[in-house]
Amino acid sequence: MCGIFGYLGYQEAQPLVIDGLRSLAYRGYDSAGIAVLSSEGTLGVRKAAGKIDNLIGAATSSPLSGKLGIGHTRWATHGEPNEINSHPHFDGSGSIVVVHNGILENYAELKERLIANGHVFSSVTDTEVIPHLIQELIAEGLSFPEAVRIAAGQLRGAHAIACLHADHPQEMITLRIGNAGGVSIGHGQGEMFIASDLPALVPHTSSVTPLEPGEMAIINPEGCDVMTLDGTPVDSSRLTITVNAVSAAKGGYKHFMLKEIMEQPETAMSALRGRLSFNPGEVTLDLPFTEQEMKEFTRVVFIGMGTSSHACQIGARFIEILARIPATSENAAEFRYRDPVLDSHSLVVAVAQSGETADTLEAMHQAATAGARTLAITNVEGSQAYRQAEASILMHAGPEIGVASSKTFINSMIAMQLLALRLAATRNTIPVAASTEYVQALSHLPGLLGEALSANEGMYHKLAAKYARSRRFLFIGRGLLEPIAREGAMKLKEISYIHAEGMSAAELKHGPIALVDPETPVIAFAPRNAMYEKMLGNISEVRARSGQVIGITTAGNAGFTGLVDDTLYIPATPPLLEPLLATIPAQLLAYHMADLLGNDVDQPRNLAKSVTVE
Ligand code: F6R
Repeated sequence: MCGIFGYLGYQEAQPLVIDGLRSLAYRGYDSAGIAVLSSEGTLGVRKAAGKIDNLIGAATSSPLSGKLGIGHTRWATHGEPNEINSHPHFDGSGSIVVVHNGILENYAELKERLIANGHVFSSVTDTEVIPHLIQELIAEGLSFPEAVRIAAGQLRGAHAIACLHADHPQEMITLRIGNAGGVSIGHGQGEMFIASDLPALVPHTSSVTPLEPGEMAIINPEGCDVMTLDGTPVDSSRLTITVNAVSAAKGGYKHFMLKEIMEQPETAMSALRGRLSFNPGEVTLDLPFTEQEMKEFTRVVFIGMGTSSHACQIGARFIEILARIPATSENAAEFRYRDPVLDSHSLVVAVAQSGETADTLEAMHQAATAGARTLAITNVEGSQAYRQAEASILMHAGPEIGVASSKTFINSMIAMQLLALRLAATRNTIPVAASTEYVQALSHLPGLLGEALSANEGMYHKLAAKYARSRRFLFIGRGLLEPIAREGAMKLKEISYIHAEGMSAAELKHGPIALVDPETPVIAFAPRNAMYEKMLGNISEVRARSGQVIGITTAGNAGFTGLVDDTLYIPATPPLLEPLLATIPAQLLAYHMADLLGNDVDQPRNLAKSVTVE
């Protein structure tokens, strides 16, 4: 949450920092700001409430000149998102400037002490305490880097910070405490960059040093010195990043989210490439476990948040169906505080497209401390989850810019199905012929996703026009479609701002059916599978109470249209692929409703792409 970008080198910093912030805007877009150090040693600042375009307006009408700059795009925690509370924040002398991502848990206590020492604050943010603390330590005789390092030792919580000092034109300092989202250093030729996320560095360099928690870097135009926060030098290994910058462009679509939905056949292909083999059907995954260890797993726990937690619910079902290992999914934020019973025969799989979600990273840490084996399923190679787990299964979805997850949801489900098939092969839980069929079915998935995307011509616009003014929706499904009902509701909520609840269709009559009325459309996932008859019963219960039903069923299921008000189709497929295909109409329905309502689909209000605070 919050994006940080910095530049030090031979070019003008302002345009580079603003471009960097633009590419990080998915991390927060309540306000933005930049600070640039001029060749005369003056720190200039521009800030604006609201989206990055407001900052661009302010900065272009009155540009800052200098070769060293830092910037910040904010997801507000302390203080409303106005200009005063925008980062960067200064110390009392105006010489030290700081941008910050995280929550400073002991800021009230530090602020009180600083005020007692005569410091005057202009914002209500926690961040402003940091430059004042550095100022105080410099006044006590410490050098700038030492003051930053000692100040960092006094900050509680998890943070990524970057700071400049007007008297140090060749120095940018950045540091990381805990799992508040990463900060990585990009190495250029005679120029250096810092960014919260790796894709923001891609246009400039592929040579990157990601900081680990508890590390600080003193950066000059030729390189950097990395040390731990207790002052011990670190030999930081370089990581080469391979994100494809071209695929991050909008490609003619109105919104990134629509582009990302439409490219799911290709991104599904990327997730499968090199991982399937036929005759007999097998899955190749680079896992850090011996065959014996995989045979001895007694449980699998999937952890994640939001959309990733819905993927986890599917993953647990895949593991039980295919590998016959007891499997559960848990909200990572709850898991980390409930002291779960784990041992070396437990496999904990963390799902995080960003690889930076604070709750999930902490839960992973808990799992490893309890002796469990860990895997990450992530879209970002080199992210914190990638580095923290014993190994990762990469989603290979390419950069996802739309804040609401779409293609990474599909690709995380693919990764989970591959994992389940791999464990099933080792544990001999499915016959070779069945495994070959599953592998073959998976190989057809990209084509089926393409069919699902082109099915229902004209229907989404029609349904959006008919239902987008509804105040609430219910989403219902059974079996593998139950988590898809939850995910469909989440997509609708986050981009259309319409209240929606997703649940097991069986749950409806235990309470939520009281909400059913002609103004509450019900989206029912009812493909022709083993639960079809049950779903028809639940649909009848809704219609008997004057509820309107949009039914999602299998192509060719002719008798269905008379049982619902509106019908959307998905291609016929084996049941294990149904949740992936049924996701498509849920995504498109949410997208078209939000677009019709004129919402900012790619950057919905109050959200951020990487949730790096608890
Ligand atoms: C919703 C969405 C969020 C994320 C959640 C976890 O569309 O994207 O609910 O799924 O914040 O993020 P990751 O997967 O990065 O851990």
